[in-house]
Amino acid sequence: MSVVEKAIRKLQEQRQQSGEPSTGVEVPQIHPAHEEYSAQPRDGVTHLPGIVLERDVLRAAGLLPPEEDADLLSRQYRKIKHPLVGQAIGRGVPRSPKGYLIMIASAMSGEGKTFTSLNLALSLARDKDLRVLLVDADVAKPQLSHVLGLGESPGLLDALRGPQLDVESLIRATDVPTLSFLPAGVGSEEATELLSSARMEQIAELLGRPDGRRIVVFDSPPLLQTTESPALTHVAGQIVVVVRAESTPQPVLLDALKTLEGHPSVSLVLNQSTQSVTSGYYYYGYGYGYGSERPNRDSA
Ligand SMILES: Nc1ncnc2c1ncn2[C@@H]1O[C@H](COP(=O)(O)OP(=O)(O)O)[C@@H](O)[C@H]1O
Ligand SMILES: [Mg+2]
Repeated sequence: MSVVEKAIRKLQEQRQQSGEPSTGVEVPQIHPAHEEYSAQPRDGVTHLPGIVLERDVLRAAGLLPPEEDADLLSRQYRKIKHPLVGQAIGRGVPRSPKGYLIMIASAMSGEGKTFTSLNLALSLARDKDLRVLLVDADVAKPQLSHVLGLGESPGLLDALRGPQLDVESLIRATDVPTLSFLPAGVGSEEATELLSSARMEQIAELLGRPDGRRIVVFDSPPLLQTTESPALTHVAGQIVVVVRAESTPQPVLLDALKTLEGHPSVSLVLNQSTQSVTSGYYYYGYGYGYGSERPNRDSA
């Protein structure tokens, strides 16, 4: 069963349990007809239609927190994003070279990269001075693209393959005016070569360029389980390594960090922790428990 199907089933079950009638239209909708989302040229570029981020579907897919945890999580993301924004646009600290290109990485799969990418992007997009582009660069497992109904749509891989293609035209506006999305694109056996190509560097630079206010967040494949991820680390100006609390074995994390040696900006996010931690690199304690052990709101 695909992620989308699982999400839809979970949503339908929840609706049945709550006595809410099932509408039967739980697949994320693309709204090309809506004026705001039509393929009108923006900045001289004709774009593909925009999308609505269906919160229910994203929640059922486990990519957004349950509504009752949203406030807590948004406070935690505010703390996480603050230093990242600083380095990206030079707010309060010197701007880092390519700091606006933020890669969300982890040693293994299942540590929360996709969850972190989406929630961080949404948190960044609340800052009205910023423009945020979320890129599904997990070409090996493009979960975001699938959940958003864009699994078969052209995206990053297509732009990498076709130098004549304007990557800007493949970016989808969303119902969050400051947030846009670039899907992974259509699968390819030579993904690693494409991601490590000079064209990738060129595209990354183009993605960040439009007005100097755009922050690009890359959801990415695991550092230790794929060959695509190391290719991406070269284009990112900031790398956030997601570490799943009480799950990622220390030697595994150290191996992952070894692959990033020499990178000027690596920070760690401790995900799904019930405690706040501060040490070493930048460590941000965050996460929420579904059980009773919730982090202290002020310390998270
Ligand atoms: N902070 C979090 N709170 C609650 N659930 C989370 C959190 N981070 C990740 N998850 C859950 O953990 C699972 C794996 O997360 P995901 O983002 O898909 O990992 P990855 O992209 O690294 O493979 C998903 O089911 C997601 O719902
Ligand atoms: Mg993922």
